[in-house]
Amino acid sequence: MKSSYAFPVFLALAFGSTSAQVHRVSSPGNIIEVTFSLEKGVPYYSVQRMGREVIQPSRLGYLLRGQAPLDRNFSITSATTDHFDETWTQPWGEKKHIRNNYNEFRAELEDDHSRKVKIVFRAFDDGIGFRYEIPSQKGLDRFEIMDELTEFKLPDDHMAWWIAAYQWNRYEYLYKHTHVSRFDTVHTPLTMETKDGLCLSIHEAALVDYPSMTLLRTDGTTLKADLVPWSDGVRVKAVAPMKSPWRTIQLADTPGGLITSYLILNLNEPNKLGDVSWVKPGKYVGIWWEMHVGKSAWGEGPIHGATTANAKRYIDFAAKYGFSGVLVEGWNVGWNGDWTAGGKEFDFTKSYPDYDIEEVSSYALSKGVRLIGHNETGGGVLHYERQLSDAFAYYQRLGIRAVKTGYVQWGTGIKRIDENRKEQGEWHHGQFMVRHHQKVVGEGARHHIMIDIHEPIKDTGLRRTYPNLMTREGARGEEYDAWSADGGNPPEHTTILPFTRLLAGPMDFTPGIFDLLLKDYKPNNRVNTTIAKQLAHYVIIYSPLQMAADFPENYEARPDAFQFIVDVPCDWADTKVLNASIGNFVTIARKDRNSEDWYLGSITDENGRVLEVPLSFLGPGAKYKATIYGDGTAADWVDNPYAIEIIQQDVDNATTLTLRLAPGGGTAARFTPITRH
Ligand code: NOJ
Ligand code: CA
Repeated sequence: MKSSYAFPVFLALAFGSTSAQVHRVSSPGNIIEVTFSLEKGVPYYSVQRMGREVIQPSRLGYLLRGQAPLDRNFSITSATTDHFDETWTQPWGEKKHIRNNYNEFRAELEDDHSRKVKIVFRAFDDGIGFRYEIPSQKGLDRFEIMDELTEFKLPDDHMAWWIAAYQWNRYEYLYKHTHVSRFDTVHTPLTMETKDGLCLSIHEAALVDYPSMTLLRTDGTTLKADLVPWSDGVRVKAVAPMKSPWRTIQLADTPGGLITSYLILNLNEPNKLGDVSWVKPGKYVGIWWEMHVGKSAWGEGPIHGATTANAKRYIDFAAKYGFSGVLVEGWNVGWNGDWTAGGKEFDFTKSYPDYDIEEVSSYALSKGVRLIGHNETGGGVLHYERQLSDAFAYYQRLGIRAVKTGYVQWGTGIKRIDENRKEQGEWHHGQFMVRHHQKVVGEGARHHIMIDIHEPIKDTGLRRTYPNLMTREGARGEEYDAWSADGGNPPEHTTILPFTRLLAGPMDFTPGIFDLLLKDYKPNNRVNTTIAKQLAHYVIIYSPLQMAADFPENYEARPDAFQFIVDVPCDWADTKVLNASIGNFVTIARKDRNSEDWYLGSITDENGRVLEVPLSFLGPGAKYKATIYGDGTAADWVDNPYAIEIIQQDVDNATTLTLRLAPGGGTAARFTPITRH
């Protein structure tokens, strides 16, 4: 409950000789302490965890166009504290009930030009968030931010997992693992581990009308916010009152503690859409992998994938095995030729002649399945926006409840017409695109359509506020295994994603490939895992819209293994990380939201390992039937990826399972309570 009494964690000291003003706020369990200070009028913050410095005094402030810098000559006009403790319910998610418990410190500052800025800090036991607020005031109603000066001064040269910012292929890179001092400008979440194993991750929450924050290493181990600019060099086009996104620092003793930190969701505002009973997580199949391996094509011609007959085949398969959605890509006019060249040909309501969308969608509905719409824009964002409302109204009439969007364009490829009617290239991660995605989510809400964004802006927890914003890509997904010239995702890739990209939110990775060697279509590409690891990905990689990406015939050829994909849910009551080492292995257990079943996924990198996993998460006093999908004894991702061993055994919460993960392998398991008669 919100309360506004003066909280005792607040402490104000006036240092006699230096004119410094220092305020401190501690987290509810006294684990984390944030210090805010004005040193000769310049604002700084620092962070301690259990008495140890994790962020050294770091600058705050802004540079504005045509104005004096907004980072000095401040005095504090008001300093207040607050305490908040509430448990809220996610309509869908990786955990049903989430506790949001923090102490807040709010400083109101005024500079020597009488300009007012507020800085708000929230201290949680699992990290901090802070943001700027610029209230309405004379001379600052509309303004342009040329730089945000926020620093993150790290006390040591930690090891970090990172992808570089401002690259032509957006977020789709393999993570590098180096000391902080080895990178230049990186995307967030930026995850680091100290020498003695403290895990930290810098990211942001509630990115609504502002550019994405990347992190520039200014010198040594000092990082500074580097906001992705507009094509004219302005970073933020702002209107007061303005609230920046929250800058977040998550802190945990173990890598798994980062996964079960819900700080980013907690910093987002509650659901603004009201009744979202139309938002439904679900698994889907679709006409997708076919195009990636070259069996069929997006464009018209003899191997066009999106035909009425092919779509019906997938619908039949979905209905037979209980998948709720069927994605059909390449259905609409615009794919012929180079669709990545600006997307001007795309028509989002016009199907190709061999695909009767009306017939297909009503066939799907008659089988209890819904089509998933697909809007590849090729980066033609304004072209798409002009059609958005008509397109979504059309899909709603057809019973389509989810749309996957796509923005395949390189570098500053997204085109915008500027004030001088010139076409400008905008970054995928600037304020222009942040605003665009908000428009799509809003239009989706109006038409009861869930959104799955590929080539997205990164996730910052907005699914809490807009629960139709389901999932996104935003990293190298399964598709890389179909065509990437570098050999696809190496075995360690999915042992890094849970601690980096997935800290931001759900990912539409599109797992579940059974034809790992792709011999018939792509003999020079392959999927670099065992088959059991493909199953484990359904638990490890959280997504409320979760694909079974392979062809129906490949699943029906391996019915025993496929049973796990049929059974596994994608909406959870709880999530527990049982063990983890970033880039090496991770084991996660999740409880189904709609039954008493638990599921487990465990994956390893290219090294085989034996992991002892206590099942203490299972309900007390109950016996469960465990169905365990493990790597076969001689399995190995390189030359024996198909060997799988499926066993059943009775377990309870005192059982410890010994998981034997093959090199590049994994284990998946389902635990069902044994009902007594
Ligand atoms: C890239 C997306 O990640 C992929 O899923 C999609 O099939 C293609 N773009 C075409 O839109
Ligand atoms: Ca992609």
